[in-house]
Amino acid sequence: VALNAKVPATIAEFLVTPTPESWIDAAAGRLADLLLDHANCELKAASTALGFIYRYPERSGLCSRMSRLAREELRHFEQVRRIMEQLSMPFAKRSASRYAGSLRDCVRREEPHRLLDSLLVAALIEARSCERFAALAPQLEEPLRGFYLGLLASEARHFEVYLALAQQQCGIGDQALERRLTDLKRVESDLITSADSEFRFHSGPPA
Ligand SMILES: [Fe+2]
Ligand SMILES: [Fe+2]
Repeated sequence: VALNAKVPATIAEFLVTPTPESWIDAAAGRLADLLLDHANCELKAASTALGFIYRYPERSGLCSRMSRLAREELRHFEQVRRIMEQLSMPFAKRSASRYAGSLRDCVRREEPHRLLDSLLVAALIEARSCERFAALAPQLEEPLRGFYLGLLASEARHFEVYLALAQQQCGIGDQALERRLTDLKRVESDLITSADSEFRFHSGPPA
C-alpha cells in the first residue's frame, strides 16, 4: 500500500480550520508527551465505541460496527504502547483533555439528540485525528512515520463510519443534522485554534 501524508479531501472540507503551524512545531519537540497522550486517545476511542454498545444494546447494526471498531482501537493502543516500550517511555493514565471534555459537554442529554451528538462528536474527533496524523507524519522518523501514515487511513475510515451512523441511526432529517453539525464544527474549530495551557494530541496552539 502506498502511504501518503495527504489529508483526504472529504476530511479537509469537513474541518473548519486546519491544525495551526505552531502546534505542529511544538509537537515535533514533544514526542514523549505526544505518544503518551496518543496512547490514551486510542484507549479512549476503544472505550467510546464500547460505550455505544452499553448505551444502545438493542441497535444491532450500531453494536456490530462498534464492536469491530473497539477491537481496532484497542489494537492501535497496543501498537502505540509497543513503540513507547521500544523508546523506554513509561505509560500512564491521563485525564480528559480540554478538547475532548469540551466536545463531550456539547452532547445533549435527551434522545435522540444524545445519540446524534455523540456520533457527530466522535466523527469530528476521528476527522481531526486523521488530519493531525497527516500533519505530523512528515516531521517524524521511522518507525513512527509509517505507523502514523497507516493510522491516518484508519481514522479516515472511522470518520466515515460515525458520520454514516449519525445519518442512519437517529431519524433526524438532513437539514437538522447539518445545522447541528455546523454548531459542533464551530466549537471544534475554536478548540483547535485557541491557546491551550496543556500540550495534547488534540490541543490548540501552546499558550
Ligand atoms: Fe485509532
Ligand atoms: Fe479511530
